[in-house]
Amino acid sequence: MNSLVLTGFMGSGKSGIGRLVAQQLRYPFFDLDQLIESETKMTISQIFKVHGESWFRAYEKKRVSSFLIEHQTNHFVLSLGGGSLQSEEVVQLIQQLSCLCYIKVDFDILFSRITRRKTRPLLLDKEGNFKDLTILYKELKQLYMAREPVYELANFIYEADDTLSKAVNATKLIDLIAPKTS
Ligand code: S3P
Repeated sequence: MNSLVLTGFMGSGKSGIGRLVAQQLRYPFFDLDQLIESETKMTISQIFKVHGESWFRAYEKKRVSSFLIEHQTNHFVLSLGGGSLQSEEVVQLIQQLSCLCYIKVDFDILFSRITRRKTRPLLLDKEGNFKDLTILYKELKQLYMAREPVYELANFIYEADDTLSKAVNATKLIDLIAPKTS
């Protein structure tokens, strides 16, 4: 099976399910946010604070391309950040060099997962305080709807089942992408 790039909104399980997909396939696992954090020696929140969101987006875009080029002869599973598919150009590059899978989860489930942790920079206002939940719900829903058409350009759309474990979701995702023939 080809290398796999996982996309989806914040909280969709790209890293959690992705790690288990990689384990089951015996491919190495990479997480784009973690790569960026270790290279810049800053957390994503610090990057947003110090350099701003557009600096992060430019770094993220360059890093996806350089990752794919560096790893084009290897097998891997790479989890993107929720905003990494910034244009169709990025989608096309990913699809040329690997297989793109969107992990789709209902927005209300995502919202309850996302707001459990108060660290993601998009959840904070300019002063660094957690945004009002009603405002946040509206903002994130808008963002989700704006991003969905780009996520849906993926080669595969895996609808994650919230009632199953991450390991079972990982197995089902692999079955969707590489169904067993026997
Ligand atoms: C972002 C998602 C985050 C991280 C950053 C921005 C986004 O990754 O890249 O906070 O714009 O959706 P996760 O999707 O892994 O939370």
